Amino acid sequence: MPDASPASREIEARRALEHRLGRLADSFVIDWRAHCTSTNSALIEATPADDGFIHVLIADRQSAGRGRRGRQWLSWDDGSLTFSALWRFAPGAPVPAGLSLVAGLALARALEELGAQGVQLKWPNDVLIHGDKLAGILVELLPGRGRTPAAVIGIGINLQLPADAQVPEQRGVTDLAHALDSAPPTRATVLAAVLAELRSLLDTYAAAGFVALRDAWQQRNAFADLPVCISGEAETLQGICRGVDEDGALLLETAVGMRRVLVGDVSLRAGGGGQA
Ligand code: ATP
Ligand code: BTN
Repeated sequence: MPDASPASREIEARRALEHRLGRLADSFVIDWRAHCTSTNSALIEATPADDGFIHVLIADRQSAGRGRRGRQWLSWDDGSLTFSALWRFAPGAPVPAGLSLVAGLALARALEELGAQGVQLKWPNDVLIHGDKLAGILVELLPGRGRTPAAVIGIGINLQLPADAQVPEQRGVTDLAHALDSAPPTRATVLAAVLAELRSLLDTYAAAGFVALRDAWQQRNAFADLPVCISGEAETLQGICRGVDEDGALLLETAVGMRRVLVGDVSLRAGGGGQA
């Protein structure tokens, strides 16, 4: 019974992380709880001290999982992995605009290492498999003028959803079991794979910026050279998705020229505006 309690999963996660990262695993503090409203909210409401560690909070069950703009993230006991990591950046570093994309790329690479094929990224913050949503990312920057910039990176992954799982307002949903065509690895194994990739890619991002990761992101772009519709609060734009620039902004070729769309409160949909 490897999955008996949150405490045993915490130990398993630490071992899995040591296996992947060696002594670098010591830079993580892992807190695995049975229940939480939202792991993002919990880290924002009770932010751990700036002690040099990367704090990671995992919940077996979230009662109020959140997506962007107040949307819900649904999860199922034993069928989902939901966690958040508090990442701090060098003092004075600029606002990390491309962070959602870096997190998406880390997640994609971790899933590929675990054997998933057809992993795609939907700008700015979704991970798809052959067009269906497998995972979502919610990055929230912590306020704090003059302090070390910090972000909570929240990740929800569908591991093995119940056959009757319903996700409103999302056309295609999939899980890792389906992608691997077998029972998925344990949550601790998946967590360790994602944290190891996050650590590696965020180091690159901090040293060289998003531009160093741009090609890897674009190789997995679900909408490369396809017609898309971008809807924001003020306007809706249609055009061809031409990838992302060196800051992670979406490049949209419209009838009146190239537009640069910043990561923000905008949604990307396929073609003429239907659900992606
Ligand atoms: P957008 O398409 O506008 O960029 P999004 O796909 O990034 O949005 P959010 O705005 O962050 O999503 O909100 C989360 C959305 O994810 C929900 O509205 C719901 O449609 C979908 N969702 C919720 N739970 C799951 C899940 N377990 N698996 C797949 N999709 C989910
Ligand atoms: C999305 O769908 O685009 C974002 C979903 C993010 C869900 C994760 S689950 C762990 C963390 N806690 C939350 O409340 N949200 C994120």
